[in-house]
Amino acid sequence: MHGYDARANERLHDQAAALVDLLHHDTAYPAGSRVLEAGCGVGAQTVTLVARSPEARFTSVDVSAESIAEARRRTRGAPNVEFVQADIFALPFAPASFDHVFVCFVLEHIARPVQALRALTGLVRPGGSVTVVEGDHGSAYFHPDSAAAQEAIRCQVELQRRAGGDSEIGRRIYPLMIESGVAGVEVSPRMVYVDASRPDLVDGFTHKTFTAMVEGVRDQALAAGLIVPERFDAGIEALYGTDVFCYTFFKGVGHRPAA
Ligand SMILES: C[S@@+](CC[C@H](N)C(=O)[O-])C[C@H]1O[C@@H](n2cnc3c(N)ncnc32)[C@H](O)[C@@H]1O
Repeated sequence: MHGYDARANERLHDQAAALVDLLHHDTAYPAGSRVLEAGCGVGAQTVTLVARSPEARFTSVDVSAESIAEARRRTRGAPNVEFVQADIFALPFAPASFDHVFVCFVLEHIARPVQALRALTGLVRPGGSVTVVEGDHGSAYFHPDSAAAQEAIRCQVELQRRAGGDSEIGRRIYPLMIESGVAGVEVSPRMVYVDASRPDLVDGFTHKTFTAMVEGVRDQALAAGLIVPERFDAGIEALYGTDVFCYTFFKGVGHRPAA
């Protein structure tokens, strides 16, 4: 799931476009503040962050050089962001170098999310904010329901678990942030509700984001023997055919305790 490929790139951008208000309407950083975006990927959130806070200065990091290159291309012209290729566990910044840190869809891929968040929080000045956004695939429900679709989704969850991640991490944001030493944590669920009256979300979320993500693990799921091809394909067809689809993201905001 890490790194850049054209399909993931397109999916993340469709997702960002469809969800921008839901996830970002309450994220804005003051003029002159220094913001660290950890795990920026191909810049799907970066474009929104820099546009919504044009006077803040962003440093967006990712371990993948290809993703950084793509993020740089996507945000070309934005004067308030610089990109750094680095690992969250070995970032080249002094403690308290930033006023705020923003992490989106990253902890779900990391085997030691508390340690990652602790490292990131240490880079924020006392009193500075820490924002974490994650999904939770266990929160997906839909109509008509489909056992095959549920099984296809479980393949994605299981493969991510085997890779050291947790695609149901959204529900753990509060305890993770507290354990990481973040104070004043408030988590808000952000539910995406999709039906035929919202064709942009049917296309941008149900199809191009969620279903495309599950469909993307087909080869791995078959190779791992988690499911047979016919069953997986029936599940994907059912997901594309849903009339109603619900999914919940979780956004946690807290701050580094004052020294
Ligand atoms: C699913 S992408 C999310 C990208 C972006 N935040 C977004 O919302 O579109 C996860 C990103 O985390 C990055 N990542 C994973 N582990 C990392 C680590 N230890 N250090 C830095 N980046 C990491 C991956 O390279 C990938 O680009």
